[in-house]
Amino acid sequence: MKKIGFIGLGTMGAPMASNLLKQGYEVTVYNRTASKSEPLVREGASQAATPAEAAAGQDAVITMVSNDDSIREVFYGEDGILKTLAQGTTVIDSSTISPGLVKELAAEVHKLGANFLDAPVTGSKPAAIDGTLVFMVGGEASVVEAASGLFDTLGKKVIHMGPSGSGSVAKLAHNTMVGINNLALAEGFAIAAKSGIPADSFLELVQLGSAGSKAADLKGRKIIDHDFSNQFSLALMLKDLKLASSLTDATGVPSPMLNLAKSLFQAGQTQGFGDEDLSAVVKCYEAWIGQTIGGKPLQ
Ligand SMILES: NC(=O)c1ccc[n+]([C@@H]2O[C@H](COP(=O)([O-])OP(=O)(O)OC[C@H]3O[C@@H](n4cnc5c(N)ncnc54)[C@H](OP(=O)(O)O)[C@@H]3O)[C@@H](O)[C@H]2O)c1
Repeated sequence: MKKIGFIGLGTMGAPMASNLLKQGYEVTVYNRTASKSEPLVREGASQAATPAEAAAGQDAVITMVSNDDSIREVFYGEDGILKTLAQGTTVIDSSTISPGLVKELAAEVHKLGANFLDAPVTGSKPAAIDGTLVFMVGGEASVVEAASGLFDTLGKKVIHMGPSGSGSVAKLAHNTMVGINNLALAEGFAIAAKSGIPADSFLELVQLGSAGSKAADLKGRKIIDHDFSNQFSLALMLKDLKLASSLTDATGVPSPMLNLAKSLFQAGQTQGFGDEDLSAVVKCYEAWIGQTIGGKPLQ
């Protein structure tokens, strides 16, 4: 697989496409806001005017867009990829979308004689830049194997979860835990801060103690510094929790912590923090305790 169409150059997609270029792949990029393609074109990518153009004649097409609606537009739109997808092309969707839509897309793509993998990722913007993402993949094992060179360029590990839709389900279960872990961190910080424990000391304890987590490692310092620059937006976290909640409704899995987490991230979104990093949910706790985690009174 050498010729790649890459659709969606946001926080994750742009560094992923850049890593493919660095490894010598021939990459054709498409982004809805065309100006975001320019840095990739400077790195050697070709620019497509539509998803259909980006998908035509490629060995593989990778999609990395926001949500179910975006994916529907990229696949089924007037200039969607289903218009030009060639027999034998492998479509790899790395967006986090619903398992039901994944199965529908896989069926559409298979009808054209092409292959489909749902391959969502974990590891945020830094892992996309470093090429150390972890892929959780649904689809046929032989197709996963044939795409292994691509996955190795973009990530450090591929875990085959099962048939189409399994990658998506694994991602939603995983991100349920990401949301809960981030809330656990915010709540711990709030309890400690309200009684005057210095935030730095508390974070040091958490990272050494049994409460340690990737959330603490990735977001603890951001919370103390009030640096809510976006790595994974609060709005996208809420989107994933809503998808997970629909899944547990459909499968009948009791999920009280998921639904509490969904409500708390919804509160963050309602407060206007949706475009900030998901760690900005701590600002809800700061409002409740009347001070910042760093100890300053709220303005
Ligand atoms: N950020 C993370 O840490 C992370 C980690 C794992 C998984 N994910 C998942 O990966 C996906 C992308 O995340 P991200 O952080 O890169 O998001 P992002 O920065 O918000 O980028 C979203 C991308 O989707 C495009 N898009 C949105 N609607 C579209 C439409 N209707 N048609 C065509 N393109 C459309 C956007 O185009 P424009 O530029 O025109 O808006 C942009 O390129 C999401 O499903 C997210 O849940 C993110």
